[in-house]
Amino acid sequence: MILAVPREAVSKERRVALVPETVSKFVAAGASVRVQRGAGTAAAFPDELYERAGAVLVDDVRALVSDADAVVTVGRPSPDVVGSIRPEAVVVGFLNPLGDPGYLAELARAGVTALAVEMIPRITRAQSMDALSSQSNIAGYKAVLLAAVHLPKFFPMLTTAAGTIPPAKVLILGAGVAGLQAIATARRLGAVVSGYDVRAVVKEQVQSLGATFLEFDLGGDAEGSGGYAKELTPEQQERQRAWMVDQIGANDVVITTALVPGRKAPLLVSEAAVAAMKPGSVIVDIAAEAGGNCALTKPDEIVVSPNGVSIVGTTNLPSTMPSHASQLYSRNVYALLSPWIKEGTLTVDMQDDVAKGACVAYAGDALVGGTAG
Ligand code: NAI
Repeated sequence: MILAVPREAVSKERRVALVPETVSKFVAAGASVRVQRGAGTAAAFPDELYERAGAVLVDDVRALVSDADAVVTVGRPSPDVVGSIRPEAVVVGFLNPLGDPGYLAELARAGVTALAVEMIPRITRAQSMDALSSQSNIAGYKAVLLAAVHLPKFFPMLTTAAGTIPPAKVLILGAGVAGLQAIATARRLGAVVSGYDVRAVVKEQVQSLGATFLEFDLGGDAEGSGGYAKELTPEQQERQRAWMVDQIGANDVVITTALVPGRKAPLLVSEAAVAAMKPGSVIVDIAAEAGGNCALTKPDEIVVSPNGVSIVGTTNLPSTMPSHASQLYSRNVYALLSPWIKEGTLTVDMQDDVAKGACVAYAGDALVGGTAG
């Protein structure tokens, strides 16, 4: 089988789908790996490392993908590249099938077998393939570092000859994978941390990391299928936002991570809540790309509110730590594809639950989270 790794289509994307370590593993499994020249440079993996790992470097992206059996990317390949991939080849990446039906139709038209990593079911067997988790973990960590950089205060308590500095107060909204990593990171930096989520089940996880769990009665559990949150009713959302004004106002830093799959991110931090914070406070909105959890968030901008609160809307945080983000993603891809490689040939088992969940286009049809075959 031929496995192709193009340079990412979006210039801001610094990650690469396969790092040299994983190239070696695919080569050992009998694959020929072809990498577009420069694909790993921004992630600190120069071309020489790929050659040493057994990959062949190719300049032209169309030549790279045209006879590949599998094309592996982080973000999705451009429609132009998709048009050059041969029918029945496997395409793996964050393909955003719920957010862009038009693109999904392009994949179907190309006749490829498209596996969207964000649709891989969160079952125990698939943990090593869980790219959403590996990348969210990085986003949670980096969000806290950004908050610490922008906050005009220390995170830890300090006892100095000039007197004592109290620790920063940090509130994490949404305690999924990113939120739990944000809690752990803020604790390591010495902040006093609290966390909140609509899913009551995360209370113990938040507490086990040394943070306080904020409780608010929504009048019913908001846990939906697959461990994800359900969208709240407009009335619940309004009550939640009103309750949060005081909670938010009591903190120096708020990190928001709340997402509902396939929906716009819920609005948790109202303008009134921002106005309740002290000057110099910082909000980092990890959900910026999905519409934002804060009313004032602007994607890829730092907005300063009239009362001096900085709202950081940096998108694609995993791409700002491209080496480790690529290394982890690459391992996810290997865990996904390697069980389907037998004697150097890749055959996706369409009866496998992971393939059923992740396959969004197959044999000319667009399927969202549906089954193939
Ligand atoms: P996510 O990225 O979809 O959402 C982040 C968090 O926001 C979630 O915890 C969600 O409950 C919360 N949220 C949504 N609406 C909210 C609101 N209005 N107010 C406050 N919080 C709100 O979630 P993520 O990180 O992908 O995790 C989803 C679930 O999947 C979790 O239960 C997690 O434990 C589970 N999971 C299971 C794995 C496995 O078994 N293999 C691996 C990773 C995660």
